[in-house]
Amino acid sequence: MTAAAARPQSPLLEEVRDGLSRPQKELSPTLFYDRRGSELFEAITRLPEYYLTRTERAMLATRMPSVIARLAPRTLVELGAGSAAKTRLVLDAMRATGEPATYVPVDVSAEFLRETAAALGTELPGVRVVPVVADISVGLGLPRAMPRPVLFAFLGSTIGNFEEDAAIALLRRVRAAMCPGDHFLLGVDLQKDVRVIEAAYNDAAGVTAEFNRNVLRVLKRELGADFDERDFAHRATYNPMAHRIEMHLIARRALDVHIPHIGTLPFRTGESIRTEISCKYDRARVQRIFSEAGLRLDEWIANDDPAYALAIGSSDAWRR
Ligand code: AVI
Repeated sequence: MTAAAARPQSPLLEEVRDGLSRPQKELSPTLFYDRRGSELFEAITRLPEYYLTRTERAMLATRMPSVIARLAPRTLVELGAGSAAKTRLVLDAMRATGEPATYVPVDVSAEFLRETAAALGTELPGVRVVPVVADISVGLGLPRAMPRPVLFAFLGSTIGNFEEDAAIALLRRVRAAMCPGDHFLLGVDLQKDVRVIEAAYNDAAGVTAEFNRNVLRVLKRELGADFDERDFAHRATYNPMAHRIEMHLIARRALDVHIPHIGTLPFRTGESIRTEISCKYDRARVQRIFSEAGLRLDEWIANDDPAYALAIGSSDAWRR
């Protein structure tokens, strides 16, 4: 969509109007991920300070073969389908069982899904790829029939970007899609030394700062906003009460921003827009959101340093 196409009633406009009119201005982290934002995020995953991706990848590489041999899934449903690298670790373990494998990547970006499907189709012959375009924060839109059992996976600690209510609602949607024998695999970042977490979101090369400011470029392009990215500083600090890191864009000076169909937004020096939360869990908190969603925590695979976990659950529904 271009600025010229942004209609006065568009959902994006409504969402931005609502977020920027709150006492703590906020924007949805989904706005980061245009092509440039997705490339910046890929660059973040390779940063020395950003331990999440490589820790999870190492855990998947060592633990998936035995997990997959035991759970014997025929279909992998990946929510918010991520980079093919971590997906391949799960699919490789599935192919190693000798059974045909189906991969259902679910993502909001049709373009991203097309590319993933094409890449995996050539790299992993024999894997049937059935892409689903859906916003997982609203619904999963899964095909009616999938070879069972199904392994639902939500990796990369993306669950951390959801407020707890929304995280539980998402897990409920997963639980509702499960049949006996299906499982859920969650990759989740854990609480740890605050300095380690803050360094991961304030990298020395400034890639995360660029990623954060990219949201302003998206609003300029999509809504015709007249932000100047140089007026906003990146800040990521840990909130110890809520156990989460929060990313903000801080106005360096008093200024007015104009957004067509929204109006003029005055910013005071130091005023911030919260652009993302990234919650850090512990086992008790994962157990709690699982049980609120009707899931049972069957297995907890934890890495110590840096602390990260793979949680495996199944539906409680057919046990009652
Ligand atoms: C996608 N998500 C899990 C990342 C995170 O760590 O919360 C997004 C991110 N934001 C800044 N760096 C990475």
